[in-house]
Amino acid sequence: MTDPLEDQKPKILIVDDMIQNIELLRAFLQPMNYTIESALDGEDALKKVGQFEPDLVLLDVMIPKIDGHEVCSRLKSNEETRHIMIIMISSLSDLENEVMGIEAGADDYLSKPFNQLLLRTRIKSLLKTKYYNDQLEKAETVISSLALGVEAKDPYTEGHCSRLSRYSTALGNRLGLGMSLLKALNSGGVLHDVGKVGIPDAILLKPGPLTDEERKIMSKHPVIGENICKPLHSLKLVIPIIRHHHEKLDGSGYPDGLMGEDIPIAARVLQIVDIYDSLMTKRPYKPPFSQDKVFNIMDEEVKKGWWDPRIYSEFKTMIQGKNWHKDLPAKSLNLNSPFI
Ligand SMILES: [Fe+2]
Repeated sequence: MTDPLEDQKPKILIVDDMIQNIELLRAFLQPMNYTIESALDGEDALKKVGQFEPDLVLLDVMIPKIDGHEVCSRLKSNEETRHIMIIMISSLSDLENEVMGIEAGADDYLSKPFNQLLLRTRIKSLLKTKYYNDQLEKAETVISSLALGVEAKDPYTEGHCSRLSRYSTALGNRLGLGMSLLKALNSGGVLHDVGKVGIPDAILLKPGPLTDEERKIMSKHPVIGENICKPLHSLKLVIPIIRHHHEKLDGSGYPDGLMGEDIPIAARVLQIVDIYDSLMTKRPYKPPFSQDKVFNIMDEEVKKGWWDPRIYSEFKTMIQGKNWHKDLPAKSLNLNSPFI
């Protein structure tokens, strides 16, 4: 297997108040393909992180101004820096210190005097993890931009994706879905129609009703979307939402004609908020409808056996209550990011 770090020159920041310790580590790491920078105290460390953007920080616990635990916890609680790998190094080998380091979010913990081979191996392993995380993040960002690009093509659907993320996570939370499904719904709101990138604009933006042939092409978007996202293991729970958000409970939907509870619950949640938001907003082929009219239409569709009545009724109660935003699991879910 080839080493993914071979062509990289990972950046390491050494933080220690003793210059001789820094020089020792620098000399020890020099033969490897790393770019090295150093800082003598906590304040300097935070400043250098911003300037140098390291992949990994070797962080001594006992440093002046801001101690190592605090530096670690600040870096790990910041969206911009939480991906940086941190190995805490302490001369105190007691359990309490190690626990504090782990609680502060350190990726590894070593006590002095440390075994050089062990340190080298741990650095290499964490840098590899960081490299794969970075690659994954890049791929997810590209797919997310693709989905938002599809939304931006049509001025009528502006904001549709982010509303869907908010409605569906709040609704999923009321229904008692677990955190992993709520995260999937948050991403699903943005990504559900990413497959529309493969649909010609003449069909996607057509102001009038679609012909049978055009409808057939349009109905391929869930499968195209699934194929775009399939290589990413991190989107495993989002893919059923993408593939099945146009199924109907009576089996008349697409692409698989699934019936009832064979349609994944997260897809049943997203489709209700998707229909609601589409009916409420202006589209090339229709004006925005009043909420009463939207509910009349959706009531009829539930009677026809299209949408899950239990989820629909929970959604109606939620949206008619003034404070539905309180149902957002915002504390544990970063709703600014489609990927958690
Ligand atoms: Fe769709």
